[in-house]
Amino acid sequence: MWGGRFAEGPSAIMREINASIPFDKALWRQDITASKAHVAMLAAQDIVTREDADAIADGLDRIAAEYEADGVPEDWDLEDIHMTTESRLAELIGPAAGRLHTARSRNDQVATDFRLWVRDAIDEADRGLAALQRALVTRASEHAASIMPGFTHLQTAQPITLGHHLMAYYEMIRRDRSRFSDARARMDECPLGSAALAGTGFPIDRSGTADALGFARPTANSLDAVSDRDFALDYLTTASQCALHLSRLAEEFIIWASQPFGFVRLPDTLSTGSSIMPQKKNPDAAELVRGHAGRIIGCNTALMMTMKGLPLAYSKDMQDDKPPVFEAAGLLTLSIAAMEGMVAGSTFRTERMREAAELGYATATDLADWLVREADIPFREAHHITGAAVKRAEADGVALDQLSLNVLQEIDSRIDDRVYDALSVDASVASRASYGGTAPEQVQGRVAEARRVLGMDE
Ligand code: ARG
Repeated sequence: MWGGRFAEGPSAIMREINASIPFDKALWRQDITASKAHVAMLAAQDIVTREDADAIADGLDRIAAEYEADGVPEDWDLEDIHMTTESRLAELIGPAAGRLHTARSRNDQVATDFRLWVRDAIDEADRGLAALQRALVTRASEHAASIMPGFTHLQTAQPITLGHHLMAYYEMIRRDRSRFSDARARMDECPLGSAALAGTGFPIDRSGTADALGFARPTANSLDAVSDRDFALDYLTTASQCALHLSRLAEEFIIWASQPFGFVRLPDTLSTGSSIMPQKKNPDAAELVRGHAGRIIGCNTALMMTMKGLPLAYSKDMQDDKPPVFEAAGLLTLSIAAMEGMVAGSTFRTERMREAAELGYATATDLADWLVREADIPFREAHHITGAAVKRAEADGVALDQLSLNVLQEIDSRIDDRVYDALSVDASVASRASYGGTAPEQVQGRVAEARRVLGMDE
């Protein structure tokens, strides 16, 4: 493609280090789409003849059919998907193929193709996340009144409902979707026509190509347009934060599925057995979601490091932008689907959860609150009295609501038998009816809002 200036061809090492075709062939659909938009514009602007433009468009359609049927050929000498396609076009239609590259460069071409690819990746992530949200909301509604221990420091803190716990993840995913949508809106500008770095002298119609490719507008600075990878970084940072959420959800399932907890039976379809220990059912899918989060965050770091300190405009370092984005997108899609399956297909062992909530003195705060409310005791003192009650229950090996009234009154004489209404886990949960609290009616309220947002009632 640049033989005119060179006396010798590249060495084997140069060919190998230079080649991006092994990975950027994933951009072939976007490359064909962008080239067709470009050549249609060149014809409309009388920069190439209608005849040549038709021949080019037909040739590109034929190449797309070949790639679809046989895959993209990987010839290192052709470096990348752009040159691979152009060289095949020349084989198919002859010298007119050379007119396609008028008024563009691979620099704006790759920036355009990659944006189109990332835009699709965002749409795919969003579809998967919406499905995960629907699964969360469905299970949350089923378990709006199922009692479980709520933890801080992974120590039993207060009783909550399983529905409330699952809806916490609905909220995280809601923010992830909002970040993806922000990223999509920010990248909605078309670099095509920025050419190598400075724009072009041909009378091109940048708004026309932007429009044809579904972008809101053309980019406003050609130097920025060919050297900007913020759109890929926006995708990766958002994917990282999303993966972080998925790994937290995965971790819950790993803990809940362990024998000492026994809160959940994972679907067989998302578990593995052991070749040596017949009793085992391992949460491998959840562990891999937890692991993949590390790799996705690594991809984000990789591209940040590639881009830092690069002067304007394009540098070849930027060819390394694609592998981390492709890798992260593949891992994210899998992780979202695995977590959707796990949420939808798990059996929650609600009797075990309730038992655990009853065992851990989870209603101690309710006793303290009752002392404040009913006996007008300052909270700090109430806290101290409650601590003594927990100590006594622990020594006797019983739950708080199994302490007799005599024993409770020995600890503080202001306690009377109405206290038992506050000490059950059900009463505790029902009392937390502040907006966004764990009371079943609150959970069902949030579920109803979520169902509306997700269009689940239509
Ligand atoms: N293979 C290159 C990439 O993926 C295409 C752009 C090449 N541009 C250049 N000036 N060498 O980044």
